[in-house]
This record gives sequence, structure tokens and C-alpha cells, in this order.
Amino acid sequence: MAQATVLVGAQWGDEGKGKVIDILTKDVQYVVRYQGGNNAGHTVVIGDDKYVLHLIPSGILHSGKICVIGHGVVIDPKALIDEILLLEEKGIDCRGRLKISDKAHVIFPYHNKIDEFRESKRKQGKIGTTKRGIGPCYADKVSRVGIRMGELFDERYFKDRLESNVEEKNALLKDLDSFEGFPVEDIFKKYCEYARYLKSFTCDTTMLLNEALKKGDTILFEGAQGTFLDVDYGTYPYVTSSNSTAGGACTGAGIGPSKIDKVIGVVKAYTTRVGEGPFPTEFGPELMEKIREKGGEFGATTGRARRCGWFDSVLVKNSVDINGIDEVAITKLDVLDEMETIKICTAYKYNGELYYNIPGNPGFLDECETIYEEHSGWEEDTSNATAYRDLPENARKYLDRIKELIGTDIILVSVGKSRKQTLPYK
Ligand code: GDP
Ligand code: IMO
Ligand code: MG
Repeated sequence: MAQATVLVGAQWGDEGKGKVIDILTKDVQYVVRYQGGNNAGHTVVIGDDKYVLHLIPSGILHSGKICVIGHGVVIDPKALIDEILLLEEKGIDCRGRLKISDKAHVIFPYHNKIDEFRESKRKQGKIGTTKRGIGPCYADKVSRVGIRMGELFDERYFKDRLESNVEEKNALLKDLDSFEGFPVEDIFKKYCEYARYLKSFTCDTTMLLNEALKKGDTILFEGAQGTFLDVDYGTYPYVTSSNSTAGGACTGAGIGPSKIDKVIGVVKAYTTRVGEGPFPTEFGPELMEKIREKGGEFGATTGRARRCGWFDSVLVKNSVDINGIDEVAITKLDVLDEMETIKICTAYKYNGELYYNIPGNPGFLDECETIYEEHSGWEEDTSNATAYRDLPENARKYLDRIKELIGTDIILVSVGKSRKQTLPYK
């Protein structure tokens, strides 16, 4: 295992990052979240137990590993405490192993309210967010009015900052939505309580990680969301509010780009997305139902039905380039087991021209035609395969074609939720 590896979702999220992180964690000492918040839902299945991690790195399920929430993450302290307590109930102790950046921005109830308000009242441009207050919290961060974890511990300073924020948000919400307003004192008291609980977990995580690298320790950076939800590169405005691409690991954890040795992309064997936004290879209703059911494609955070479609090699090839992906892990191959034929999108056609990239003009992805090649399915169960060579020939051909189209190596193939349903490639 390289010393510092970044793992990213190569599509629109929910690629199976949680499962792959769990597989890779045994070889590292640190697992680090660097962006996003509790909009993420990373599922790990161990035996009969299923864990869904929203804020805490999935590596926490391996005893002895140090898990870090970097300053690029936005933290809802109540959600974080609930997650810690839930893990404790299942016998997983976070004390001493979970480190939270003192510079991570904090989500407040007014962020959730603004998120909800925008989603429910906007006539146009509904994004289909998770309503976790992510966008408004990042907006406050870049507007320089946000409040960071370390500030919660200085009560006088915190109260001043909170008061001016609540005043501003109350005025805005009253104006737009006749909202009666948030009582500042209630929020202050609650957040001081959360701060007391979280204080012992909080530290300068940037220093911690840089010291770890100097000692030769190994680190795995756990990306949340996916490349096409990245605020800069994704299908804007139908994106999240952080840099979910590999570069986010540098800015969100405080590691210089020269320290990153490897980037792994997690790629689903087909495509899914939750929420609004363009999706060129989206299935029609019949296939949608079939794959959604077989793949259990329901959001790990909100329970919403995920939209499903064919594998889009244009998206993933672009993802390989902009993340600098060295290797991919392909997940959920088993979900395609019953298909007679399987399509792969190899290009987009727009105004008579072929495209292998995603131009920024609005409507491109909605309006473009998708060019497909068709492959024969394998129509066999792959979920019991124990080695790559056990896979049916057509499944191997499908994987080889994906590899060729996206121009990168495959490190592993996943054929089920559990740890043992993971095949090293070749
Ligand atoms: P993440 O957000 O990228 O971590 O992905 P999610 O956890 O939101 O969604 C992936 C879902 O697929 C979870 O329910 C996983 O348990 C499941 N999963 C992961 N890998 C496989 C696989 O190879 N086959 C099947 N059938 N399910 C998988
Ligand atoms: P993981 O880490 C899939 C989507 C939402 C919405 C858009 C903006 O589990 O892959 P936000 O609440 O972030 O402002 O919503 O981004 N979204 C995700 N989709 N997986 C995720 O995380 C997501 N996190 C956010 O559905 O379309
Ligand atoms: Mg998820």
C-alpha cells in the first residue's frame, strides 16, 4: 500500500466507497474524511452487521486505526455524537481513535432550515439535496461568517459570532418565509453541550497527519460523494458544495499534493444518481425498477430511490483524468448478472458532433444523444465467485472493455456486499 492514498467516487456517489475503504483499511494506520458532511452514507457489511457511516471514516470499524475528520468536512455535532453513540452501542469505541479538526466548520439549525427552504420553495433549480444544511454551511464558510469547531470552546467568542449569524438568518427567513426566528440562547446552550462532549476528540488534525507522514505511517483519504457532484467539476448546479475530487484531500486535510502517492477511483459497474440533474444513460422505467431492486439502490442517508442507468465510460474516463486515478475498484458487478445484453456509453453526440468530454454549456448532458456499444450478458450468478478467473467469460470481457475505455488498471472487483465477495483483478 502506498503511503498516502486518496480514494474517490468516480461517478455520482454511492459507488460502494464504504465497502472498498473497509477492504483497504487493514493496510493503513489512518483513515481520513476531508470533505462533505453527513450528506454521505457509506455502508460497510461485516458478517450479519450493517453499518452506515455518515461523518466518521469507515475505517473506524477496524480496531486500532486512527480516524480523522479533517477541516474540509462540515460537522453537524448532534449527528456526529449520535454516530459515536451508535457505534459505542455496537461495541466500537471511538475514544482515542477519532480525531476531529478544530478548524472544521459547524452546521447549525439555520443551515438546515435554509437548505429546506430553498428546496421546497424554489420554483426552478431544485437540487434534491439531502437537506442536511451542507450547502448553506459551506456558503457561510466562504462568506467568512462560519463558526469552526475550535470556536465552540471559547464561549464568549462563540456567543458573539452566533448572535450575529442568528440575527442575519432570522431576518432573511422572516422576510422570505415568515419564519418566527431561532432563539439564539437555545442554540447556544445546546451547542455548548455538544462542544463539551466533543472537546476531547478535537485537535489540530493537520499537524497530526503531517507528523504521521514524517514517521512513515500510511494514510487512506476517504472521499465522500463522487466526481460529478464536485462543486467545481460536477454537473453544476446539481452538485454538492465541496470538492469531492482528489484535490479536495489536500485542501480538506492539509496535506501537500507532493505527499499523495496514489489515487483510487471507485466505479459502479453501471451508473446511479440521487436527486435532480442530468443523467444521459438513465434507464427507462422497466430496467430502472429491475436494477434498483436487484442493486438495493435506495439512499443510505435519505432512503430515496436512486436513479439507475448504463455504465457511462465518458464520465468515468473524465473522472480518471481529473482525479489522476491510478487504479479503479469496480463494484456491484453481480447486479448485472441477469441481463441478457448490457450497454456501455462510449460517446455523446450533440449537434451532429461526437464528444468525449462534458462541455459547460447548460443543457448539454440533457440534450445530447448517447452512443452505445452492446455486450452480451453472462446470465450467471457471480456473487459466489472467489477469484477473477471464476467469473464468466462475458463478465471478464465486460470488465476488460471498461478498463480499455477508461484507460486505467482495475485493482479489485466486488460481487456482493460482504468482505469475502471481493476479487483481486487477475
Ligand atoms: P458509498 O456511499 O459509495 O459508500 O456507497 P453506499 O453505501 O451509499 O451504497 C453502496 C451500496 O451497495 C451499499 O448498500 C453496499 O452494501 C452495496 N454494495 C457495495 N458493493 C456491492 C457489490 O459489489 N454488490 C452488491 N450487490 N452490493 C454492493
Ligand atoms: P456518498 O458519500 C450520492 C447529492 C444529493 C444531491 C446533491 C446535493 O454516500 O456517496 P447536498 O445535500 O450535498 O447539498 O446535496 O448531492 N449527494 C449524494 N449523492 N451520494 C452521496 O454521498 C451524496 N451526498 C450528496 O442527493 O443531489
Ligand atoms: Mg452513499
